[in-house]
Amino acid sequence: MNKRLQAIEALVKPGIGLVDVGTDHGYLPVSLARHGYPGALFASDIREGPLAAARRSAREAGLEERIAFLLCDGLDLCEPERVDTLVIAGMGGDTICGILDRAEWTMDPRYSLLLQPMTRGEVLRYWLTNNGYSIEREQLVSDGGEIYSLLCARFGGLQQLCDAELYTGAFSMIEQDPLWPEYLRLLQERFAKLLRGLRNSGREPGRLRLMEEVYDQLKEREAYAKRTGDL
Ligand SMILES: C[S@@+](CC[C@H](N)C(=O)[O-])C[C@H]1O[C@@H](n2cnc3c(N)ncnc32)[C@H](O)[C@@H]1O
Repeated sequence: MNKRLQAIEALVKPGIGLVDVGTDHGYLPVSLARHGYPGALFASDIREGPLAAARRSAREAGLEERIAFLLCDGLDLCEPERVDTLVIAGMGGDTICGILDRAEWTMDPRYSLLLQPMTRGEVLRYWLTNNGYSIEREQLVSDGGEIYSLLCARFGGLQQLCDAELYTGAFSMIEQDPLWPEYLRLLQERFAKLLRGLRNSGREPGRLRLMEEVYDQLKEREAYAKRTGDL
């Protein structure tokens, strides 16, 4: 299992049940079963091919009976009373929002959400904090030359993030992460490139202004971290 999935597994607490949405090869539930996760395990995927691959992984590990396989979109076939942990990883932030949006039962603090957007993390953070969820923890993981954000979220509480934090995660959480300096540098590079493109094209002036503000906030945060000795 890659470092990204290992980091997600390390965040799973023993519970009554876990569903891995978009399981693909089923590596996460198979590993959890192997390591003695005590609750029920569900692996879901919208496509037959990945779900068949997940079944194969479980069979090869001698754990096929331990995992229930659900062929469905998102959480459609997941029984809310059988799980308390929902993992949605390796998809775009907008897809993750769509899956949660269609499963209103997740608006309950008893569910722990482990979310790992591959792209558009800002869309996911915006959606969560504007729909009554709180991001309780954020962590960065480096894998294969990329840095990924892992979000632990739950329904309830009030959380406000500034525009830059929609891209990074709450500064109060993420600045403690050992990967933060590298992540901040990568984000600044990405924004500088995006700003050059927007300025050259002359289109989307509103977006240009917003991106300039985010870039400035990232720069301010860098200066703050340097002053306080965190960078
Ligand atoms: C890139 S893989 C990620 C696999 C694994 N979760 C990981 O993080 O490595 C994305 C998987 O999500 C599945 N998927 C995409 N949209 C989905 C949806 N709405 N509901 C369930 N599965 C979905 C795809 O079929 C694919 O198998």
